[in-house]
Amino acid sequence: MSPYTVTRTLPEDATGAALRADVLQGLTADPKSLPPKWFYDARGSDLFEEITRLPEYYPTRAEREILLTRAPDIAEATGARTLVELGSGSSEKTRHLLDALTAATGLRDYVAVDVSESALTGAAEALLAERPELRVHALIADFTRSVALPPTEGPRLVAFLGGTIGNLLPPERAAFLSSVRALLAPGDSLLLGTDLVKDEGVLVRAYDDASGVTAAFNKNVLTVVDRELGADFELSDFDHVALWDRENEWVEMRLRARRGLTVKVPELDLVVHFARGEDMRTEISAKFRREGVDAEVTAAGFAPSRWWTDTEGRFALSLATAV
Ligand code: SAH
Ligand code: AVI
Repeated sequence: MSPYTVTRTLPEDATGAALRADVLQGLTADPKSLPPKWFYDARGSDLFEEITRLPEYYPTRAEREILLTRAPDIAEATGARTLVELGSGSSEKTRHLLDALTAATGLRDYVAVDVSESALTGAAEALLAERPELRVHALIADFTRSVALPPTEGPRLVAFLGGTIGNLLPPERAAFLSSVRALLAPGDSLLLGTDLVKDEGVLVRAYDDASGVTAAFNKNVLTVVDRELGADFELSDFDHVALWDRENEWVEMRLRARRGLTVKVPELDLVVHFARGEDMRTEISAKFRREGVDAEVTAAGFAPSRWWTDTEGRFALSLATAV
């Protein structure tokens, strides 16, 4: 028997309805786009972990710095007996929170929610090897859809780290934050990691690193569509593009067709044309200011309470209470 529970709310087979619907919609839209959640098959999850170690990719180090110093404050302020983490990935930085919460409240339950089964099982096994007392509930689920949490003890703290909230478009963020609030009781808490608006050069380099890892991560979505839907995307037909959208204050990743080409997606009975130089958006990564974060969490039914940044002011962790 597994020492942790794995609950699947997504179809076993990634050719499920969600991928089909997203690819059909995204490839027939103008401009074309694909949602970023499909980056994260096993290889995509590994590539993301590689990104977190790149010299140019500062968000992970900045957020870890904040967690290292503030985890005890977070534990004291929330009194959480259950930690729920959305988009938990490797759960690497989460260890600082688990340490502080275990010391402060005797926390026993950690609920990790992710679309990536490989990331979830890897994280759960590593955590349990270190912490045999911890009850790890690994939930394979899409956090933009309804998530059913196991009936663990409150108060609950929902952590959404890494700046992943920035990968949602503004209306998606509003719906997402309201759905998180609906999971919670008054007095429960939300811990949100948000990357901050900063110098354009620093931002673009973080998404267009010299060693090409982010380019490989970006193109991995084509590999997923090829494998799962029988498409014939050639990765070498596309260039990785990262640009700063000053008006929307987000970094945008795109794949740009190097030549005019046609792609077949047999599983969808679809033939798609790309003009030479045509862009397909694969991710936005919004950067925030404090006023914006406070307004968005307030609109979703939380009261903002704490705001911490790393010493260089690049990234913020904020705490809010469900009202
Ligand atoms: N929280 C970790 C990982 C961030 S990478 C960190 O801070 O380093 C983003 C994670 O969110 C990945 O593990 C990815 O699989 C997951 N993810 C992306 N979209 C998702 C969705 N819609 N539902 C659930 N998980 C998602
Ligand atoms: C997961 N998410 C917060 C990352 C980001 O920075 O937007 C994903 C990523 N995309 C390119 N590099 C990293």
